[in-house]
Amino acid sequence: MESIREPRVAVVVVAAGSGTRLGAGRPKAFVTLQGRTLLEHSLHAVRGMRYAADAIVVAPADLAEDAAWLAEQALGTPATVVAGGDTRQRSVAEGLAVVDPSVDVVLVHDAARALAPATLFDAVVEAVLERGYGVIPGLPVSDTVKRVGDDGEVHETVDRSALSAVQTPQGFPREQLLTAYALAESDETDDAGLVAAAGFRVDVVPGDAHAFKVTTPWDLRRAEELLSGVAVPRIGTGSDTHAFDPDAELWLAGLHWPGEPGLAGHSDGDAVAHAIVDALLSAAGLGDIGGVFGTGDPRLEGAHGDVFLQEARRRVEEAGFRIGNVAVQVIGNRPKLAPRREEAQERLSTILGAPVSLGATTTDGLGFTGRGEGVTAQATALLLS
Ligand code: CTP
Ligand code: MG
Repeated sequence: MESIREPRVAVVVVAAGSGTRLGAGRPKAFVTLQGRTLLEHSLHAVRGMRYAADAIVVAPADLAEDAAWLAEQALGTPATVVAGGDTRQRSVAEGLAVVDPSVDVVLVHDAARALAPATLFDAVVEAVLERGYGVIPGLPVSDTVKRVGDDGEVHETVDRSALSAVQTPQGFPREQLLTAYALAESDETDDAGLVAAAGFRVDVVPGDAHAFKVTTPWDLRRAEELLSGVAVPRIGTGSDTHAFDPDAELWLAGLHWPGEPGLAGHSDGDAVAHAIVDALLSAAGLGDIGGVFGTGDPRLEGAHGDVFLQEARRRVEEAGFRIGNVAVQVIGNRPKLAPRREEAQERLSTILGAPVSLGATTTDGLGFTGRGEGVTAQATALLLS
């Protein structure tokens, strides 16, 4: 196994603007899209990244507490929240002030680009690591662009082949970004502008049409339509069984169950997590858990369910799907799930970024589950495209 350490990544999500052009009566990052705020949608992507990243949210001072709560919902762990400034640049600077010095790559992302996919974040990190300087996503400009005077008179056509409409997340080696902010003299509308002004090279890499910025009510409607998904959904099923091992700790449905007999397995034996992974992979046509993770990978020895769930989610999203919902049923005598059902549902839902419902049943004393030899879980997953 490679011994080089994993790169450390931080993502600063700026969400402190007022959203004047959207005019929704509250700051833009707190406006909802299909029941979730733009901020949560952005953090959902951060959570789906292959690189584990520190999340730093820059919010309006009076909404810092709300931002902390929303961030924890979306990420499953608390984020650092700081109050923003009166321009985007000042807000980014507030976020950069709390980036840990051990971080290698910093991504700066507009919460307003709520549908930017996790794969775009990963691609930017990867390109920064490869090249050692700043990388920003951009798309070719398709309209003919004119330079126009104040009075509306057309002066010239700008050569669009040399233009790129740039997006976020924009990624930089931490040192270069901090230097650029320390030297900043002008107020720029993006971070690459400052980094280039400080003399560092910045490249454009292919952007993603989903990373458009929600600026006007029309953009919000476009985002709603994209999320409402008119395509045919896809369904998948999965099941998993593990025998009890009284010497092991019990991990089931992403939770630790102290005092309960554990389940045998190469990983932690979390049959619920594994059944869900199989359901997700089968719905996406990506095979099954054994094919994707192998059955004896030493890195997965004792691994908890969230490792598998997170990777399965990343793969289905990379394949162009979004998880609609997941239902799981546990078949077995113990543990008694009801007292912790809500907790388990919340944990699994947070990891997958979609509702997970959990049920349980016994088999009236029949079969191996009835005899208390083990636990089975059966899962169904619905994917939307
Ligand atoms: N932003 C910020 N602090 C500011 C201004 C903007 O953190 N003082 C953030 C916004 O929250 C947004 C991103 O920078 O996620 C891009 O800015 P923009 O789209 O201009 O958002 P707003 O400034 O909120 O919108 P408007 O300009 O329409 O008021
Ligand atoms: Mg603005």
